[in-house]
Amino acid sequence: MRLHNFSAGPGALPEAVLLEMKEELPVYGDLGASVLEISHRSAAYTQIEQDAKERIRRLLKIGDEWHVLFLQGGASMQFHQVPLNFRGENVSADYVVTGRWAASALKEAQRTGMARAAASSEDQNFAYIPASSAWDVDPEAAYLHITSNNTVAGTQFAEVPRVAPPIVCDASSDFLSRPIDMANHALIYAGAQKNIGPAGATVVLVHDRFLQRSNESLPVIMDYGTHAKKLHNTPPVFAVYLIGKVLAWLEAKGGLAAIEEINERKAAKLYARIDRTDFYRGTVRKDARSRMNVTFRLPSEDLEARFLSEAQDQGLLALKGHRSVGGMRASLYNACPEESVDALIAFMDDFERERG
Ligand SMILES: Cc1ncc(COP(=O)(O)O)c(C=O)c1O
Repeated sequence: MRLHNFSAGPGALPEAVLLEMKEELPVYGDLGASVLEISHRSAAYTQIEQDAKERIRRLLKIGDEWHVLFLQGGASMQFHQVPLNFRGENVSADYVVTGRWAASALKEAQRTGMARAAASSEDQNFAYIPASSAWDVDPEAAYLHITSNNTVAGTQFAEVPRVAPPIVCDASSDFLSRPIDMANHALIYAGAQKNIGPAGATVVLVHDRFLQRSNESLPVIMDYGTHAKKLHNTPPVFAVYLIGKVLAWLEAKGGLAAIEEINERKAAKLYARIDRTDFYRGTVRKDARSRMNVTFRLPSEDLEARFLSEAQDQGLLALKGHRSVGGMRASLYNACPEESVDALIAFMDDFERERG
């Protein structure tokens, strides 16, 4: 039986997608083999990859000026690959440090050149998003890096900031959970394993204009241009195949405006439950609350341990918060059904009635 899954990542996948995948194993179409066993240069895989890229373009309403890449190495590799490609010699890059992953991105960039924090919310354990009006942005920076959703703390940017440098965004934990104002971006990257597929592929959207800056002396595998031009080496075939299916599921649901409405509704009802009494306490500032990762605490660590263990017994999985925040984290990615949120709220009501 499938239980209610609030995993922060790899996260829940749509059940319909898993069943479709099962149908297509061990034989895909009339190929006489599964998709795991065919050449990445075969017509079948070429179609799968093109189809997934077109779905992303359709969902985001973008054209060929955006290259869509499926890379390996995780979002963590992007921490290194972005500055390597786009910073240039003696040029600095700016970072808005709103979480542990954002801090890692800055640290990696500093290993290979100049990078600085234009703003940070580390002073309050990343419980807020600093107002963009107060950022110390270097207008000459090669780019400004933001993390649109902070998976650990549970905060999210309400909108894309307007700044002079082009924006590079780590959207790992909210990619395709709502429409994106692409105009302000130069590059967006996202590990697939939270909102759009399984682990193993990182989606990179890079604007053609930005790609021109790419440095040709780079190792070939690290150069975005290599991957934008042609299929360079074996891509994460199975991950791309599943991403295509999740994207089809998303389009059938009505696309990004429709999923945003659902995600808003799921998060709003959970936050409303948290706020209804003093028993549960949200851990971040209300104006920065994430719709993807809802973090909250109970009155004591003892109660938190009981909550987790009883929740698990009731079929509510993976609610333990990150150790740096403590308490609970419910991740409500696209594929987390509304019924799971309702089940969590009902459990929270019962738990408070009995222990509050
Ligand atoms: C916002 C964010 N960025 C980066 C990462 C690192 O991703 P990966 O494990 O794919 O390298 C994560 C992982 O949880 C994340 O949440």
